[in-house]
Amino acid sequence: MPDRADLTDPSGVSAAPPDAEPEGTAPPRRRRSLRRTLLIYLLAPLGAALAVNTAVTYRTALDSANQAYDRTLQGALLAISERVTVDDGLIRIDLPYSALEMLENDFQDRIYYRVSHPEQGEITGYPDLPEPLPGKRFGISRAISGEASSDEVHNRKPFFYETAYHGEHLRIAAQWRPLFYPGIRGPLLIQIGETQGARNQLARQLLLESLVKEGVLIVFAALLIAFGVLHALGPLRRLRHEVAARDPLDLSPLAADNVPSEVTPLVDAVNAHTARVRQLTDAQRQFIDDAAHQLKTPLAIIKSQADLAQRETDPLRLQRMVGDIGQTATATARLVQQLLTLARSDAAPPASQVLNLTELARQVTFDWLPQALARRIDLGFAGEVPCPVRGDEVLLRELVANLIDNALRYTPAGGVVTVEVSVERKTATNADKAVVLRVDDSGPGIGVDERERVFDRFYRPAGSSAPGNGLGLAIVRAIARRHGGEVGLDDGPEGRGLRVTVHLPAVGGENDAA
Ligand SMILES: Nc1ncnc2c1ncn2[C@@H]1O[C@H](COP(=O)(O)OP(=O)(O)OP(=O)(O)O)[C@@H](O)[C@H]1O
Ligand SMILES: [Mg+2]
Repeated sequence: MPDRADLTDPSGVSAAPPDAEPEGTAPPRRRRSLRRTLLIYLLAPLGAALAVNTAVTYRTALDSANQAYDRTLQGALLAISERVTVDDGLIRIDLPYSALEMLENDFQDRIYYRVSHPEQGEITGYPDLPEPLPGKRFGISRAISGEASSDEVHNRKPFFYETAYHGEHLRIAAQWRPLFYPGIRGPLLIQIGETQGARNQLARQLLLESLVKEGVLIVFAALLIAFGVLHALGPLRRLRHEVAARDPLDLSPLAADNVPSEVTPLVDAVNAHTARVRQLTDAQRQFIDDAAHQLKTPLAIIKSQADLAQRETDPLRLQRMVGDIGQTATATARLVQQLLTLARSDAAPPASQVLNLTELARQVTFDWLPQALARRIDLGFAGEVPCPVRGDEVLLRELVANLIDNALRYTPAGGVVTVEVSVERKTATNADKAVVLRVDDSGPGIGVDERERVFDRFYRPAGSSAPGNGLGLAIVRAIARRHGGEVGLDDGPEGRGLRVTVHLPAVGGENDAA
């Protein structure tokens, strides 16, 4: 234990300036509606699926339309191919108009054809109709760019491709037809193409039919989802109405029977919170009853003392009576002060100022020196290092004062009382440190079985040696807890008297709520 300091030379470190902690003025956060979130998460993917499906359906519809019209195109190609003759080494074609007629449709699609040979050039048709390019690529891009695979070139099979021609988009059927005549080398290329009005119309019609079916399905699904979400959230709505319709004083638990299992923990947590509020309210009601009762007694005494004084004619006795009234009034004022302190420590906002507890306790001890002298008690203070704590200065002064008051009040004359402030490190690091205030005295102490009960409000062990209200230790505990700390009672040094120890979180420590 550090040496006890000379109290007439208070040279401790002064309290740090208050920490300015501006009130949180963040704008209120936008609340997300569960119903909206669920609907968005369910309906948005449904919409996306519809979009993808529309693209796929259109592609499939186009393929189906192509398949239907390609057959006619291929028929025309074969009809032309059958009309190829060779006369005197010259290739001739007797173009069958029936072949072109079969391609006619309601959409006035235009027909383009071309028959050409590598050696004899254009035989008939539109000479600039783009030829298929031999290539290796596959798929849509190949079909559109007019490339034919080498397989199609060598096996003489009819094939199809799409190409642009004079600003129009053509679908062309083509075939390399081998000619087995002496003197003629290379295959004949036959191409016949048409614009795609009819195909596109058919594809659009197929798409529309499928979209109507899907649309009905989607609307039905969306209605089901919306209904499901509203139905699932029904219990929450009912819960909200139940809570909103409650009497403000009704702190009974909410019924958790009809809520979904996901919400049960929330209802349980709310019920647990309500139970704590109920306990607190009950305790406060009890405290108010006790306080009123405690105040009634001294006020009744003052009244009867005043009644007596009114009837007293002897000036000396009257003076003594008025003195008694003054004393009772002083004691009552102290009781009121204690009740206010308790109410304040219960309701005080979170502690906010950084204070040096060493300096604060030294000053309070100094203030009590006259009482100590009057009672012939050796009151001393020990504590050299500054011990910063975060807290309310008035309440912490009250805490120290109550402990010194008790020590001086219950220690017989000639005794010793020591107030000490120090920092305790539970581990080697600074993170786990606490500020410790100890008040030791050499008085009668408190029996082990009374050490918990003396913290109850208005409780005084039978035969307490000095007058009091039974509130001092209750105030000390309420203030300590308000600051995140705790109070303990032990035997005093060398097993004599009482040691009261208050632990408070040190500023900068693990539990500092800064
Ligand atoms: N230092 C002490 N030594 C011995 N007994 C003590 C000491 N401090 C408290 N006590 C016992 O604990 C009881 C409760 O103390 P507490 O301070 O709460 O109330 P009080 O001192 O009786 O009244 P007051 O409200 O005026 O402080 C006291 O009545 C006393 O019997
Ligand atoms: Mg007391």
